[in-house]
Parts: sequence; structure tokens; C-alpha cells
Amino acid sequence: MCGIMGYVGSGETVSIILDGLEKLEYRGYDSVGLATVERGRIKTQKTVGRLAALRKMLAGNGKRGGAGIGHTRWATHGRPSERNAHPHLDCNQRLAVVHNGIIENYQELREQLQKKGHIFISETDTEVVAHLIEDYYKGDLLAAVRRILGQLKGSYALAVLSADEPGKIVVARKSSPLVIGLGTGENYIASDITALLDKTRDLFILDDNELAEVTPAAVRLTKADGTEVTKEVFRVEWDAVTAEKNGYEDFMRKEIHEQPQALQETLAGRVDWEKGTVVFPELKIGRDDLSAIRRIHLVACGTAYHAGVVGKYIFERLLRLPVEVDLASEYRYRQAIIGPDVLTIVISQSGETADTLAALRLSQAKGSRVLGITNVIGSSVAREADEVILTQAGPEIAVASTKAYTTQLLSLYLLGIYFAQELGTLEEALRQQLLTEVKLLPHLLEKTLATETKIKEFAEDFKAKENIFFIGRGLDYPSSMEGALKLKEISYINAQAYAAGELKHGTLALIEEGVPVFALATQPDLYEKMLSNIKEVKAREATVVALVSAGDYKTEKSVDYALYIPKTHPFFTPILAVVPLQLFAYHVAKVRGCDVDKPRNLAKSVTVE
Ligand code: G6P
Repeated sequence: MCGIMGYVGSGETVSIILDGLEKLEYRGYDSVGLATVERGRIKTQKTVGRLAALRKMLAGNGKRGGAGIGHTRWATHGRPSERNAHPHLDCNQRLAVVHNGIIENYQELREQLQKKGHIFISETDTEVVAHLIEDYYKGDLLAAVRRILGQLKGSYALAVLSADEPGKIVVARKSSPLVIGLGTGENYIASDITALLDKTRDLFILDDNELAEVTPAAVRLTKADGTEVTKEVFRVEWDAVTAEKNGYEDFMRKEIHEQPQALQETLAGRVDWEKGTVVFPELKIGRDDLSAIRRIHLVACGTAYHAGVVGKYIFERLLRLPVEVDLASEYRYRQAIIGPDVLTIVISQSGETADTLAALRLSQAKGSRVLGITNVIGSSVAREADEVILTQAGPEIAVASTKAYTTQLLSLYLLGIYFAQELGTLEEALRQQLLTEVKLLPHLLEKTLATETKIKEFAEDFKAKENIFFIGRGLDYPSSMEGALKLKEISYINAQAYAAGELKHGTLALIEEGVPVFALATQPDLYEKMLSNIKEVKAREATVVALVSAGDYKTEKSVDYALYIPKTHPFFTPILAVVPLQLFAYHVAKVRGCDVDKPRNLAKSVTVE
């Protein structure tokens, strides 16, 4: 997602910051900006597009000494534009702020601040931070920043500069990473260790609810309640490439582990917890438009298609409307029946997949309203769809999609609940129950990551297999499809997914001693049937890995390996169940010596047919 870099010292402030931001470019961004204090005033330079353009604008600015903060922005609130690029300033242009994360209650804060007379320039959530600090600033930046933190809901890594205290940066963190690099007579701040590695390897890693005042000579660390903090210096031994991956061996494993945060950010601002309702302020589609819709078409490719298959179950169950789900490459040629009574939902991480875009255009041409779910603001899907929902997975670099998938699922669940709430097709009690569970999902996904220890232990047993079957019923079926795709993509083992009820109609002929079957049995209403399917394959001496919900210790007795996901409402299990499947694919691919981030013959974004 966004990147932050800052410097205090006697070096070339501007070029040090630009160099640091350049190290963060791989994460993706759409605009850049920088602020320094010059002759007692805040000076900002911003531009849409590449860092190289900002470098050009600043060429010749060999400013030495003082403090500066820079930012690469991956737009969330408000389109990519110069106005929306960071740093953001207060009314008097005496304070500059850069921010990673999402301030969930920014609308409310913005209205309060506007009533007090504050003038806003951007559409961002970040700008409220600058104005809030302005209200509390009395010559002590650290104290002012500390005072506002209690008012911010959501996640943030903040870096703040004041024209009245040049040579100082104040930083604060909650659920968004921030590190302080320690030099001699100079110090640095950054959102990622990568940005700092060629400058220093000695760091303070800020914990949640901690702040720091950073000057060339000292770093003063405090908690949000003002108590002083002493921290051990963290010495980084990694090389630059490992650091880009934040210590992970590859992007795929990093991205699998980023899923709790990605869910948290996708959820941010989507539920009014007091009223118990889902909110999608960006959607123009109203109750009347929804009432006129008779069918929903979900269209996507690859992993996003599997999110669509889960979407079919979600929408049919919540809205009682007929839903079709299609591969975009089929949809565009099969003469589907499309018209104004159809709502087309296209799902695409990149927003650039050629077939998905063709499906979007086809639906629009036939008079259907198209809603796009994408991870990339400014992408073709984001620009062309009639309605857009952005997932907040952050840049996904590994070719095999992981965190984009779970955030697509979460967006579909929220959208389903939202439509049902607008149409009145969901009982109040069930809605409240679902929302209570939704809130827990980031935490439950975190717990699900613990299955990795066991998966790592047994991955070796699957190293030499040539075929693996994934079976499941109901909502476990699309998860099986995604599990099989992940394994195929990165380990090159042939993997097939079957609705478990279909086994008897052919596949059973392939089951013999030692053939691996990954059986998903997380759906209570289909559990007994799944157990029978597991027994059918066990009777033919298959090697079975079962994925079940915590508390089900009955299955364990009938299988070779059992994996558990935490208990949640059965409706939400796809978000958790896919995690052990991703980890299984990852560890089997690793023991086979595959390049998990860049599988052969595959591309991250397929912009040709
Ligand atoms: C490629 C990627 C997959 C992705 C699919 C659809 O095949 O390798 O990971 O699921 O495209 O991409 P999209 O960007 O439209 O979600």
C-alpha cells in the first residue's frame, strides 16, 4: 500500500527521502509528495504518477539539513490527484502530515472540524489529522499529536512536521507499520525497513499505540498515554531483497500472512456498528434500482472466479434471487441473456483482465448495470464500471492470488448483507448475528495461520505425488476449486476439485492406494454426507487430509491428517478454509523447489485474450 519516508539531519533531505521512496516503489502507488520546512514555512511538492516526475520537479533542490517527510500514495479515499496526494496540511499551512492506513471515522471528524471553520482541500481521510492537530497545537508537536490519537478510529502510521519546530518529526502508529532508523547525528522514519537499509541497519520498531519525537540527536519514545518507553535497538541482518519481503522468504507467504490486516482494512468503515448496518456510501444503486433487478450475473477469471462462485451461494441465500456465475472468457461468447433487469458484478484483482473487461463492456452494451469489485483504483474496471467497490488488500505481487481473494470474499459478503438489508430479505436477528461474526473474521484468520506448522511438517509427504483431488460440498466446493488452482499454479502437481457428491460419477475410478484427497468438511448441514465421502475414498486406501472446524474431533479418526479452522458461522467458512489450502500449496511447492512467486507460463495480470 502507501509508503512513508522521512529524514532529520544535516544530509541532503530531499534526495534522501526520494531515494527511500524509490525503494518502496515495488509496492505500487499512484501519486507522490514530499514536505520540508524551508525558511520557516512548510514547502510541499506533489505529483500524480511516478516518483521520477517528482524527482525532476525537485532537481536542483540540494536542500541540506532540516526535516522532511515523503509519501507514495495508493488511493483509497478519493481518486489519485495532486490534491489528494500526501502530505496534507492544516488551514494555516504550518503542519504537514503523511499517513498510511484508514481513518474510519473521518467523515464524522471532518464535519465537526468544518463546523469549527476548518477548510478542507482534499477528499482524503488523512486531511482530518492535520486539522485536528492544528486545534491542539500549542508549540509542542508531540503533545498535540498525542492528544488527537484517542479521536482516531481505524489504522494509521503517521508522520508529522511542524514549521514551528523545524528539525523534528513526530510519528505514531496503530495497526500500520512504522520504523525509525538510527544514524549518527541524523535519523530516519519509514513505513518499511526496505526504505532504510542502505542508510542504517539499527532500528526502533514502533508498536501499536506508541509515538516518537525524532530529532537529529535523539529519539524520544512514548506511549499514547504519555509514559516514556525504552526499547531495544533492532539490528537488521537481512539483505535488501529479503527486506522488501519484510523478512519473508517470498511475496506469496508474506501476502498470505498479510490477510488479517487486509480483511481489517476492507472492513474499515463498512459497518455502522452502532446501528448494526452495512454501509456502502460510494454506491449509487438505490433501493428502487435493486427492486427492479431480477437476476445477478457474477463474472470473473481465475481466483476471482472462485470468489464469484462463493458469491453465488451468498446472494442466492441472502437475496433469494437467481444468480449465474461465469468465467469471463465463456460469458462473452455464450450469448448469455443480459438486460436491464440483470445486475452484472465483475470481480478482478488487477481490474485489467482482458476477458473480464470484455464481459463488463458486453453487459453494459446490453443495458445491464455493472458493479466492479477490484483492488486497483484507477484500473480499467474501476474507471468503466457503473459502480465500484475497492478491496483494500494492498498491492499483491505474487502471481498466485491470496489476499486479494479473501478481500473479494469479504466484499461480496458485505455487499450481499447490504443488498439484503436494503431489500428487506434478511431477518434482523440473522443480520446482527452475521455482523457479529464478520467483525471477528480478521482475528479468526490470524488464528487460522497457525495451521502452517502442521502443514509444513507433512508437505514433504506430497512432494512426489502426481495428482491430488480436492473435494467439498456446499460452500466447501468453491474453496476446493481454489485449493486445487493454487496447488496447480505453483507446484505444477495436477489437482482437480470435485463436488464430493460427484465422486461416484467417475472420479472414484481414479482413487487407489496413496492417492491424496484433500477433503473439506466445514459445513454442519452437509457434514454427515462429507464423512460418507471421506469413508468412500478411505475404503480405497486414499491418503486423506481433512479440513474441519474446531471442535470436530470425529473426522480425525477416519483420516491421515486433520487440519482445523476456528469456529465461525458456517456461512463465512470460505474466508478461513482457503488459508490452509494456500499454505498447503505454498509448502508443497517449496519442497518441490518451485519459484512460488513467479510460476512458469503465468502472468499476474492477463491483459490479452
Ligand atoms: C491471472 C492471475 C490469477 C488471477 C487471474 C484473474 O491468471 O495469475 O491470480 O486470479 O489472472 O486476475 P484478476 O486481476 O482479474 O483478478
